[in-house]
Amino acid sequence: MVSKGMRRYRQRGNAHARLVEDQDSCLLNYTELFGRDAPTRLEVGFGHGTFLSQMAAAHPDENFIGIELQELRVNKTAHKSDKLEAHNVRLYRGEAHRFVRQRLPQASLKRAYVLFSDPWPKAKHRRRRLMNRSFLLDLIYAMETDGEIIIATDTLNYCFQALSNFSTLPNLCKNIYAPQGYQINIPTRFPTVFEVHKKKEGWDIGYLKMRRTDAQLPPRLPWNPVGQKRDAS
Ligand SMILES: C[S@@+](CC[C@H](N)C(=O)[O-])C[C@H]1O[C@@H](n2cnc3c(N)ncnc32)[C@H](O)[C@@H]1O
Repeated sequence: MVSKGMRRYRQRGNAHARLVEDQDSCLLNYTELFGRDAPTRLEVGFGHGTFLSQMAAAHPDENFIGIELQELRVNKTAHKSDKLEAHNVRLYRGEAHRFVRQRLPQASLKRAYVLFSDPWPKAKHRRRRLMNRSFLLDLIYAMETDGEIIIATDTLNYCFQALSNFSTLPNLCKNIYAPQGYQINIPTRFPTVFEVHKKKEGWDIGYLKMRRTDAQLPPRLPWNPVGQKRDAS
């Protein structure tokens, strides 16, 4: 059933103008998508879109792509971006790993954000976490040299798990927060909805920042959706 709220956003939001078409494994052409050549950033799991729309409005000379599973959140974010006149936002409703692997051209992103990715706190559910080694390698493929991957989470064991997964992909990224490897509770310019909420509740927030080097990429296994889900390293 479509809720009243959903209907309102569907009617008011300019979601269609911003939506990235789902074309299986066809690589995106950013010049066509945005109608210009510009540095491109990505946010994975943008939720309510506060960060994405504010960042995009603050950087009109850059392109912003957002991926989110939930349709209502995509429509809300389209609406927020309209309000802020952030015309440089394109949104994809769907699953992030497949999108990163199949739709993003190699070495095409200046920055990628994975902010408060679902933590799946129960041990038996951890295999569902997005930031496994396979996802991180696919994300690194999409980063240009010196491009940065920025990660935040209130679940510190997930922060350390992501860090440990990066360590299995040696030399591909430089850890900007070395030698400690991570930062806790740093100030941020545009906090996300979850960030504000979790900070208010007194949770510690862990941050990672990894910069792509020019090291050669290792080969990837062929795409296998079932296999990707099982790779919970
Ligand atoms: C905990 S919320 C955080 C939202 C936002 N980043 C924030 O910090 O406020 C995680 C978001 O990621 C989305 N999500 C989870 N798994 C995803 C996936 N595999 N692909 C795309 N989006 C995903 C969820 O729908 C949800 O909106």
